[in-house]
Amino acid sequence: MITIKTPAQIEKMRKAGKLLAELFEEISKFIKPGISTLELDKFAYEYIIKHGAKPSCLHYQGYPNTICTSIDNVVVHGIPKATDILKDGMIVSVDIVLSLDGYHADATRTYLIGNVSEEKRKLVEVTKECFFEAIKGLKDGSRLGDIGARIQHHAEKHGYGVVREMVGHGIGAHMHEDPAVCNYGTEGTGMKLKEGMTLAIEPMINMGTYKIKLNGWDCRTEDGQPSAHYENTVLIKSDSVEILTMI
Ligand code: MF3
Ligand code: CO
Repeated sequence: MITIKTPAQIEKMRKAGKLLAELFEEISKFIKPGISTLELDKFAYEYIIKHGAKPSCLHYQGYPNTICTSIDNVVVHGIPKATDILKDGMIVSVDIVLSLDGYHADATRTYLIGNVSEEKRKLVEVTKECFFEAIKGLKDGSRLGDIGARIQHHAEKHGYGVVREMVGHGIGAHMHEDPAVCNYGTEGTGMKLKEGMTLAIEPMINMGTYKIKLNGWDCRTEDGQPSAHYENTVLIKSDSVEILTMI
């Protein structure tokens, strides 16, 4: 079901989004070569609890942790581990969902660890650009297909693959609400977006083939090449779009 948020619900989503944005600022200072992804997870868990929020992914469909840490060829849902130590040259996407006062915020950043190759840096940069291309001019009356079409166009222009099986989503009182927000598609098609809708838009872009291998939570690129992920929760307004998970 697609939900249109009331002004009071939007205020709650803004607060949740702001807290998540602040957490990412702390993570960007904390993340460095030598720490494990489990240490990052613990850091995020404690920050969320300390601020009166709840980690949405923890125990969601059996997911064992607060955050997802997906290194290099892992596309999404990487499970934090004490033995996964961040090393120079890696890229790691950190995907976090929290809820505050009953409303969820969902965002992802892909971090560069130490000295990262030019090739990987470009993948991370273009993935972020895909998100900003997708939301350009977005407002009430825009089509859902516009989002996917712009992400796909920008990624493929650089020779990258757009993951098909994993998609963005509506978000609100539930972490996952309708509609599914594909990262590929055709401009001018799909449902019309409405003022008061809140969406998690999350391009997942592979350096090589768009194909992935799925095995439970494990999700990797088929060809072993790196993948990047960038995500924000946004609010559709009458004449613009507001990013809720950036400060
Ligand atoms: N940001 C992810 C998503 O939109 C978070 C899900 S992690 C899970 O699906 F482990 F909870 F599934
Ligand atoms: Co999401």
